[in-house]
Amino acid sequence: MKPSLAFACFLFFVTLFPFTVFSFSSEQPAVLCHSDERLALMQLKDSFIIDKKALAAGSCAYPKVDSWDSQSIDCCSWDGIECDQNTGLVIGLDISSSCLYGSINSTSTLFRLVHLQKLNLANIHFNYSVIPYALGNLSMLTNLNLSRSEFSGQIPSEISNLHRLSSLDLSYVDLASPIPSVLANLSSLTSINLDYCGLQGMFPLAIFQLPELETIRLVNNSDLKGYLPEFNFSTKLKELALGNTNFSGELPASIGNIDSLEFLGLYNCKFSGSVPSTLGNLPNLKYLNLGSNSFTGLVPPTLGNLTKLHMLYLQSNYFTGELPGNLTSFLSSSTNQICCKKLTGVIPSELTNLTQLTDLILFGNMLQGSVPSSISRLEKLKFFHCDDNRLGGLLEMDAFLELKDLQYLFLSLNDFKLVSRNDSNATRPQAQLVDIGLRYCHLREFPYFLRHQHRLELLDLSSNNIQGQIPQWMSKVSVETLWFLDLSNNSLTGFDEFPLVLPWSKLNYLKLDSNILRGSLPVPPLSTVFYSISNNSLNGEIPELLCNLSSLSILDFSYNNISGGIPVCLSNFSKSLLVLKVRSNQLDGPIPSGWATGNSLKMIDLSKNKLQEKIPKSLMECKKLEYLDLGNNQIRDAFPSWLGSLPELNILILSSNAFYGRIENPKLNLIVFPKLRIIDLSHNRFNGTLPWGYFERWISMSSLDGKNSPTPKYMIESLDMTRNVVQVTRDYDYSMTIANKGMEMKYPKIIRTLVAIDFSDNRFDGEIPESIGKLKELHVLSFSKNNLVGGIPVAIAKLINLESLDLSQNKLEGRIPMELGTHLTFLAFLNVSYNRLTGLIPRGTQFEGFQSNSFDGNPGLCGKPLLKECSNNASGLPLPSSTSSKEFGLDWKVVLLGYGCGFLCGAVIGHIVIKRKPDWFARIFSKFPTRRRMR
Ligand SMILES: *[C@@H]1O[C@H](CO)[C@@H](O)[C@H](O)[C@H]1NC(C)=O
Ligand SMILES: *[C@@H]1O[C@H](CO)[C@@H](O)[C@H](O)[C@H]1NC(C)=O
Ligand SMILES: *[C@@H]1O[C@H](CO)[C@@H](O)[C@H](O)[C@H]1NC(C)=O
Ligand SMILES: *[C@@H]1O[C@H](CO)[C@@H](O)[C@H](O)[C@H]1NC(C)=O
Ligand SMILES: *[C@@H]1O[C@H](CO)[C@@H](O)[C@H](O)[C@H]1NC(C)=O
Ligand SMILES: *[C@@H]1O[C@H](CO)[C@@H](O)[C@H](O)[C@H]1NC(C)=O
Repeated sequence: MKPSLAFACFLFFVTLFPFTVFSFSSEQPAVLCHSDERLALMQLKDSFIIDKKALAAGSCAYPKVDSWDSQSIDCCSWDGIECDQNTGLVIGLDISSSCLYGSINSTSTLFRLVHLQKLNLANIHFNYSVIPYALGNLSMLTNLNLSRSEFSGQIPSEISNLHRLSSLDLSYVDLASPIPSVLANLSSLTSINLDYCGLQGMFPLAIFQLPELETIRLVNNSDLKGYLPEFNFSTKLKELALGNTNFSGELPASIGNIDSLEFLGLYNCKFSGSVPSTLGNLPNLKYLNLGSNSFTGLVPPTLGNLTKLHMLYLQSNYFTGELPGNLTSFLSSSTNQICCKKLTGVIPSELTNLTQLTDLILFGNMLQGSVPSSISRLEKLKFFHCDDNRLGGLLEMDAFLELKDLQYLFLSLNDFKLVSRNDSNATRPQAQLVDIGLRYCHLREFPYFLRHQHRLELLDLSSNNIQGQIPQWMSKVSVETLWFLDLSNNSLTGFDEFPLVLPWSKLNYLKLDSNILRGSLPVPPLSTVFYSISNNSLNGEIPELLCNLSSLSILDFSYNNISGGIPVCLSNFSKSLLVLKVRSNQLDGPIPSGWATGNSLKMIDLSKNKLQEKIPKSLMECKKLEYLDLGNNQIRDAFPSWLGSLPELNILILSSNAFYGRIENPKLNLIVFPKLRIIDLSHNRFNGTLPWGYFERWISMSSLDGKNSPTPKYMIESLDMTRNVVQVTRDYDYSMTIANKGMEMKYPKIIRTLVAIDFSDNRFDGEIPESIGKLKELHVLSFSKNNLVGGIPVAIAKLINLESLDLSQNKLEGRIPMELGTHLTFLAFLNVSYNRLTGLIPRGTQFEGFQSNSFDGNPGLCGKPLLKECSNNASGLPLPSSTSSKEFGLDWKVVLLGYGCGFLCGAVIGHIVIKRKPDWFARIFSKFPTRRRMR
């Protein structure tokens, strides 16, 4: 308790005029702080140091204990201390957020303050101490707050001594353990907050039965399992927040008995079954979030009875990006049935009875019909999100624009035909929207109402059929506020009389991909972070003005016709640049050489241009580089072994250039591409023997558990085949994941675990080294079209993850090792044609499936699938007894699916399947503005 101002003045006075102390003190409570408690507090103070880091970062308030002073006798007057007026005993201690740092254990003098009723130690850095069991000594406690206090370990069972405890807040404490069931003995509890605690195990059901309980918060404990019990009328619950936990089962109909319930947050749990209509009996409900569960069936019309409801979230499950291990349902489903458990039916018109609603969130369901016109009754509506349903019909924009509080409107991915009347009248007040999502709304032109929108931050008109120039009036729309503009996937041809630099002064994200934009590369404003304009028909040279964009993180103008040289400034204009993609243009001249120390680049793709000369050594400064593609240019250089010192390089593509000469084995003391997973040197003029010294030392290709080379996070996000995901952060609480179009890779299988070597079409000679057998993670290996001699080493059979092996068009001789047939169970592609191989083709599940052209041009080979039978002495080995899949008329894909599979499904089948995955897939979860907390 802070001393009152008057009391503070008194203290000040006392200090100045010590003589008058007695005359003043007679007006104070006679009882002063007890000296043993004062001592205990001083010792407590001394056990901390000031957390300078937190203080500097502004993540704590101020050091309250500064006012604790052994000279000042009455500890009751110290900041953060509350005493009992009659006894002088310390009953309250609140040093929360006071910038303290230090370990604590049960010997701490804190636990001598046994009269404490309220203890608030929130936001103190306890250096990951375990929660001291001596808390159990403080048996008078009614309020305990350890939120965000950097404790760790479990809740001590001694907590069950705190019979008077009413409020317990351990949120953001890393408990990483189950909740002790003794918590259910604390019959005075009214409020439990265990948000973000890393809880595990089952939530004790008995806790729900605590008679006084009003608040249970367990948000963000994804490992915490639990069920909801039956509730009876005596329950006093007001707030039940279980978002992002592993709670499952059905919602009991008896939940409708909790008259007092105001907040029900079940976002992203595992609840299933239908939504009980008894939810409509909760007269006080203000917040209802059932989003991202597996609820099925209809939205109960009884929800229309919840007249106090402010926020309604019913959005359903959506896919979270990763390929599922089990692909059968994926394969058999058409695009709009990917999530099979959804809410169906129409939007009940009863919902428009909920006139207090501010948020109505329905995205990702299978709702049909039209948006009820009575939506205009929801006068307080601020946020309407129905993306990705099957709603249809004409949609009158004006009905929405009449809702004067409306700010966020997401209508994307339905089958609406948007009607925005051209006579929309500027003098009539219309809602000033902040975010509008109208992706895939059959628009043929820029909607007229946009002219009068002055506060827009986000505008998504992508995937419509908007044709022609971007009208001149768009250059005046929300120029001061627009942050995000996505016009990709339309038929736009250019900007009609726009200024040289695009006008929106706060623009952060600009996506113009897949239009037919002509002319020179538009220059976005200086604020731009993400700029993608791939797949258009831009020509002319790269404007140097682009180099002024010093905040840029992503620059992608691949697949255009831009010509001329790459200005040197483009290699050093933004310290924050992560991705530079200029693939498939007409750029010539040298690779720019200005790569500067401390840059952030993770991906450079200059492929499919006409770049010449050598690779500049300054690329060594790109210490964070994960991906370098210089393929399909005219680079004339020796193997850039010096790139091997780049610590993060995962993917190196130098194919189809004029690289030449021997690849020397690396010197022992050199770092040799410690994280390399994919190297493509194909179609060059490398010669000499294969660099066996590298094969021996590429640890990231050889560690079976992959532990030596954890795939960088960025890789996972960006090199996914279907999307190139980047994180654009707007400010502290608004970050957004944005999906880009699939990258057209030579390997269609760039996914996070792919490991590949392609040295094909060079002039390598000598034998295939045994050391190749070390690269156990390899999935793709090609040495085709070289001058290799000798036999196929048995060591290749050690590459048990191999899916594709191409040794064709060499001078290899001898037998194909039988072990290849038995060990390489994932092999889906084999080509050894045009060599000098002899003898029996190995048998084995996979080998049975290969066509004869895999073996063509080896006159000495015999056995299936070739027509040529082996003579008796050639087929001396016994046949494997297993029944081959071919005999069942299955091809290998089906076989693999049937047997469940590891990587191959992910890489090969995944490729086939994922091509069907609609682009919007990634968008749905990415477009939901995360600035709103989902609870
Ligand atoms: C408790 O903390 C004190 C002071 O930091 C330390 O001296 C003591 O060894 C600790 N006791 C235990 C059991 O860890
Ligand atoms: C709740 O709504 C249903 C249908 O929407 C209605 O029949 C019922 O009378 C309502 N119940 C209450 C308590 O208002
Ligand atoms: C709810 O809406 C329905 C139809 O929109 C209407 O018939 C009914 O009277 C409304 N009920 C209340 C309680 O407003
Ligand atoms: C614009 O709206 C005002 C007020 O509603 C009305 O008086 C005026 O006639 C309208 N103008 C047009 C062109 O529709
Ligand atoms: C390898 O290529 C280099 C450069 O093109 C050439 O000088 C050398 O003679 C070649 N070596 C062999 C063995 O062909
Ligand atoms: C995959 O999922 C389907 C449908 O859920 C199921 O029938 C099938 O048994 C599963 N297959 C495997 C290999 O787990």
